[in-house]
Amino acid sequence: MKWQPVISYGALLSLLLLTPSAAFSTGNKAFTESVIIFNTICAKCHEAQCSGRLSFDEAFEKSTSHILRHYGQASGKQWLQKELFDVLNHMKIKCAYYPMRAPVPLKRVWGKDILDKFSTLMERNYFIPVGKLAPGPYRIELELEKDVKVTVHLISAEFEMAVEDCFQSSNRRIDIPVFIKESGDYYLRMYPRETAKLVRLSIKPQESKTQQNKKSAE
Ligand code: HEC
Repeated sequence: MKWQPVISYGALLSLLLLTPSAAFSTGNKAFTESVIIFNTICAKCHEAQCSGRLSFDEAFEKSTSHILRHYGQASGKQWLQKELFDVLNHMKIKCAYYPMRAPVPLKRVWGKDILDKFSTLMERNYFIPVGKLAPGPYRIELELEKDVKVTVHLISAEFEMAVEDCFQSSNRRIDIPVFIKESGDYYLRMYPRETAKLVRLSIKPQESKTQQNKKSAE
């Protein structure tokens, strides 16, 4: 496939341009990619795995084939395998998601260009930091490039799921009402059943809940 060499050259370039310590800063684009891969693909088993125990370098060597089994695209990319390993260690020790430097748009409306940065290239799995949400009713609106069935999670930094469900888009849109009980930092995760880009995301407070209830009762 055409894009594959592009990634490896890009990765190679960032590897050449960065000192080893800088390669572990969250500002690094490549690292953001590892965090997203980890929080979508590896998270299926390793999320909230808070043992407090660090896995050492020998564990890294032993786990290479395991990492490749779950993410074949990391093949030949030792930097990526190592980053995924480091993200797991962060999860284990801090019992938290690896921090991502990602300003939240003022009105909580994300366009396609920003959303692209929070997805894995191949599967179009998304992991988007959506910022602090105060308790109350909200409405999540997703717009996709085509109609598709997706799994959506809205999850707090403490790994509490506020949304965990499967949705079928209609006219490429999915609207999800959600009630936030605990204030905190939240993340939106999305797995499409078949590759489909997210072109727009918005999370709006639902102002008049009673009105909304009346409407749906009609
Ligand atoms: C289907 C479930 C599953 C998926 C998906 C998965 N793992 Fe694992 N992983 C395990 C299990 C089970 C173990 C062994 C028990 C343990 O150490 O947690 C393990 C062990 C590891 C270890 C060794 C830890 C140590 O201390 O020895 C690493 C590193 C690791 N996984 C990384 C990853 C990465 C990176 C991904 C994503 C590309 C991933 N895993 C995806 C289930 C999974």
